[in-house]
Amino acid sequence: MRQSLVVGNWKMNGSIQNNQSLIEGLKQNIASVQRAEVAVCPPFVYLQQVSELLKGTAIGWGGQNVSQQDPGAFTGEAAASMLVDFSCKYVIVGHSERRSLYGESDELVAEKFAKAQSANLIPILCVGELLEEREAGEMEKVVKRQLDAVINLQGVASLAKSVIAYEPVWAIGTGKTATPQQAQDVHAFIRGRIAEQDGGVAEKVQILYGGSVKGSNAAELFSKPDIDGGLIGGASLKADDFLAICQAGQ
Ligand code: PGA
Repeated sequence: MRQSLVVGNWKMNGSIQNNQSLIEGLKQNIASVQRAEVAVCPPFVYLQQVSELLKGTAIGWGGQNVSQQDPGAFTGEAAASMLVDFSCKYVIVGHSERRSLYGESDELVAEKFAKAQSANLIPILCVGELLEEREAGEMEKVVKRQLDAVINLQGVASLAKSVIAYEPVWAIGTGKTATPQQAQDVHAFIRGRIAEQDGGVAEKVQILYGGSVKGSNAAELFSKPDIDGGLIGGASLKADDFLAICQAGQ
């Protein structure tokens, strides 16, 4: 049985004051979360604050992005070793906002995945199709291409020390959630694709769903056999909303 995992992706949100009250709210009621492991990914500049507030609690933390480079002359970037300095456990790679707004290719995302793992961070690899791609029936092709870029660079075994997040782009921040069955179908496809190469890795890897997850739909999504938790954007910014999702972890 895979442990369920719920990760809050704060995106470019937060302030010193708001982070403090959000984290206090989470800490006060984290004991009500019985099964899921919980983590939050704040913007880089708040990692110090968040790591200090969460040290010694059951809540982990991570970055939202990482450079594919080692430290050096790369203005505006943050290296994997720097995330490790702040005791990050996770780092999100290949979020659709990075892919579409910052032009990150499948190959670049795979390099970031590799760099994260070489620093002993657990990459949360985001995959997912655009609305046009779903409507054109290309969903599986797109997800396979995104996954294969990592498998080709790092080998299928590398996925055992990673988390995959399926996030249909049309469901992110739009209020349109994939139905639990739509999500389950893609999760099963991803796991099946990995199983073709390594059954053990396929059984082990946690596959999270992301895209307008809320307290009201989390339990049904998480009850599906191949959905092992969620990557939560908007609803991770309020302690009560986020905790309600975490509580739905199976
Ligand atoms: P959302 O974002 O929950 O606000 O839809 C999810 C994500 O982009 O990770």
